[in-house]
Parts: sequence; C-alpha cells; structure tokens
Amino acid sequence: MHTTTNSGAPVASDQHSQSVGADGAIVLTDHYLVEKLAQFNRERVPERVVHAKGGGAFGRFETTADVSRYTRAALFQPGTTTRLLARFSTVAGEQGSPDTWRDPRGFALKFYTSEGNYDLVGNNTPVFFIKDGIKFPDFIRSQKRLPGSHLRDHDMQWDFWTHQPESSHQVTWLMGDRGLPRSWRFMDGFGSHTYQWINAEGERFWVKYHFRTDQGNDFLPQADADQLAGSDADHHIRDLYEAIDRGEHPTWTLSVQVMPYEDAKTYRFNPFDLTKVWPKSDYPLIEVGRMTLDENPANYFAEIEQATFAPSNFVPGIAASPDKMLQARIFSYADAHRYRVGTNHAEIPVNRPVAPVDSYSKDGQQRHTFHDPTRPVYAPNSFGGPHADAAAHGDDRGWHSDGELVRSAATLHPEDDDVTQPRTLIREVMDDAARDRLVANITGHVGGTRIPAIRERAIQYWKNIDEEIGARVEAGLEPIANPRETLA
Ligand code: HEM
Repeated sequence: MHTTTNSGAPVASDQHSQSVGADGAIVLTDHYLVEKLAQFNRERVPERVVHAKGGGAFGRFETTADVSRYTRAALFQPGTTTRLLARFSTVAGEQGSPDTWRDPRGFALKFYTSEGNYDLVGNNTPVFFIKDGIKFPDFIRSQKRLPGSHLRDHDMQWDFWTHQPESSHQVTWLMGDRGLPRSWRFMDGFGSHTYQWINAEGERFWVKYHFRTDQGNDFLPQADADQLAGSDADHHIRDLYEAIDRGEHPTWTLSVQVMPYEDAKTYRFNPFDLTKVWPKSDYPLIEVGRMTLDENPANYFAEIEQATFAPSNFVPGIAASPDKMLQARIFSYADAHRYRVGTNHAEIPVNRPVAPVDSYSKDGQQRHTFHDPTRPVYAPNSFGGPHADAAAHGDDRGWHSDGELVRSAATLHPEDDDVTQPRTLIREVMDDAARDRLVANITGHVGGTRIPAIRERAIQYWKNIDEEIGARVEAGLEPIANPRETLA
C-alpha cells in the first residue's frame, strides 16, 4: 500500500521535502509537505471548557426489571439491550492534567436507543455546588486558574464556596473519600437532577438515577493520589482501558428513586433542588438494569474527544423537570457542541443515532448527509416530507407552571436549608475514620489559602455545617506563613 495525499494521489517520499538541490531551499510546489504541516496544525479541536480530561468506552445497557409502569421509553422496557458510550472525566483540569486531582468525576452516558439518542450527563455525586445555572461560569472560573499567574488558587475556590453556602453538600462530598475514587470503575454514577418519566398512559413521575458500581466503591488516600498525579497522570484512563483489554468488563446496576408527580408540591424540601438528595427512606431504590463496558474506543479523538453528550437529548417517556440547573444545561451543551465540534457534530459516527434521522435541518460546515432533491426543505408541504407526530414524541412532557416572572431562589418548602443534608452525611453516613480523613482533607485544602479573611470564612463555613468538624479544622490549621490581601 502506497502513501497518498489526502486526495488519494501517490506521494513520492515520506522522508524528504522537495528542495533545490540536496542542501537547498524547499519549494512551495511541494504540496504534500504543505498538506502535512497544515493538517497537523489543525489536529486539535478546542478542549471541553469543563471536563476536558477524560476517557471512555462502549458497552451495553440491559433492562432486567419491569419499570414500564413508570416510563414508556423503549430502552427501559424489560429485556431490551441498548448499545451505549460512557465517558468519565475530571471537571476543572485541562486535557493533560492528572486524573487523580480531587474533583467530582463526570459520568456521561449516551444510549443509542431505537427512539433516538438518550444522553444522561451526570457525575459521581448525587448533588452539585449551585442551584442556578446563572452562577455556573463564575463557579467554574473560581475553580480554574488565576488570570495573571495562571495558577490554580485555593483562595479563589474557598472565596466562591463560602459566598455560596448552597455548595456545602457537594463540598462535603468532595472533601470526603468520594472526592478521590480509586478509579472510574470503583465509583457510582448519578443523574443528579430530578428527571421526569412518563408511562404509556401519560402518567408522570419524578425520578433520580443511581448507577451503583458492581466493583464496589473504593477510594484513593490523598497521599496516593498526590503520588500518582506525578508518576501516572493518566492513571484512570489507563485503568479502564487495560481492564477492558484484559476482558474484565466493569458493570454498574441502575436503580431509580420514583416520586409520584403530585408529591413534589408538598414534599418537605424542593425536590428539584440539585443540592439535595431524596432520602431512600422516603423514596426507595427500584432496580432497572445493568450497564456493562466491554469495548475500548478504536480511536480516542474520533470516538471520545468528538463525542458530544447533551442533557437536551431525551427520548419519548423521559423528560426534563423544573430544576433550574437542568434547564440551563439543556441550552448550554448543544451550544458548546456546535462551537467545539461543529454545527453538524451529530453526523459524526460516534454521535450518530441508530434511529433514522429525518429532520429538516440542512447544510452548514462539513455537512455530508442530504435528502433526495425532490424532498421539500420546508414544513408543512404537499410533497410527502416528514411531519411532526405529537403522539410519538409524547406531548405530555410538561408540568404545571404559573406565576410572575421573578429572579428568586425562594421556595415554600420547610426544609430547604443548605446544611442539614451535609451534616447528616458527616454524622450518619461517615464513620470515625472517614470523618478523620474528611478533617485532614479539608485542613489540607483550606491550608492552601493565604488571605486571612477567606480562611476565617472557610472555618465558619464548616462550623455552620458541623460545629465539631469546623473546630477540628480550625485547630489543625498552621498559621499562614506568607499572607496576602488580594488574589494577585
Ligand atoms: C461538560 C456546562 C452543570 C456534568 C460540560 C460542558 C459544558 C457544561 C459547556 C462541555 C460540553 C462539551 O464541550 O462537550 C454546564 C453548565 C452547568 C453544568 C452550564 C450548570 C448550569 C453540570 C452538572 C453535571 C455536569 C450539574 C452533573 C450532574 C458534566 C459532564 C460533562 C460536562 C459529565 C462532560 C461530558 C462529556 O464527557 O463530554 N458542562 N454544566 N455538568 N458537564 Fe456540565
């Protein structure tokens, strides 16, 4: 097989540019050299603005139980097997950053269902730092780098978190063992938001997804994670890739919590608040099926980097909820994909649905699918083009909503405070050893702050969550060796 140019013509040499004599200047007519260098310059697409460092694999989801009384989604009907792609990631680090930095882990799934792609873009934690998408860019900037020095900065992180006490629950998760999973195989995944399921009769339910690892939860001690960050920055990518290569296919069991539609109005806290979990004593787990990852990507760039997961990709029987964060995400991801990968990103094989696509969208950069020229490019029409079908879509995806347009986080629920659930996590879920590690992790992290006022606020933040934990953090902190007053 001969090397060719991108247009298929044979090339004369892989080794030598064309030059004027063996030692002379190279010439512009050496188009193969120009093509090679120009293509190389364009090998990257912009990295994801968050969750840039990640890896993934293909697999399948098998619905083993009967949850048809809650959803008519084809993929969740008993006995159905659906091919899927999973991508795991850290949040704040850039593409080359260590896999073992303390951070939530992304848990993004794309199910190639018979009714179109269903994307569930979650994390390894059931809650999040904020409740309103308007705060997301500020939150992420505070976790990334200072504009001047380009250093990550503990003052900036704690400044943001302490200004947003709603972050308490997620920060407690982050500083606990779950902030450093041993590898992606040893962590749970959550849809995090409350979603809507709709059954064949049009009845609506609120659901939360829990993917529990069948490998068992396991964590990295901080010292091991620090060491791995230097010795094997790709530790988690490697772990998943090599396990699948060895034939050890990781699995997760999916269960859901189901809340009857009407309960949301009177539940004791806002069930659409992303900083809260629903106690299992109120809404027990109902098993749905199993996810198995058994196929490594054949090409990382084509199949993982260019994969586009969007919370807006629903299928009939599954829909959004009034969670404000989810609604912001429904805009944000598809917009990011049009910018990061391109207008026609859905045509790339890894993103292409197995269900037939028959939309009226057309053209745009790098479009390569098109309809027969006799097909009209508008709807409605008299020439047999596709038409929308409310019954197939499920015209029942909404919820009752009424009121003035406001900017407010106020709710009518009695237990909407920010600290009860993290306090329960510390006191009732963690044991003594886990609490000791929590204190050590917080102390180490807050110990990186250099602005006294921010450090004071961080101590108070923990005292507000749990007086004892706050006092232990305060007692464990060394005085600031080189204090400063500003972020620069
Ligand atoms: C990635 C925005 C909250 C999980 C991203 C990306 C954007 C984004 C723009 C990059 C997408 C791409 O380039 O492909 C937002 C906004 C949020 C938000 C605006 C809040 C309003 C969340 C939450 C979760 C989450 C609450 C989890 C429950 C993820 C994951 C990825 C991601 C897992 C990586 C997806 C992949 O592997 O390609 N987010 N995000 N995000 N986000 Fe969010």
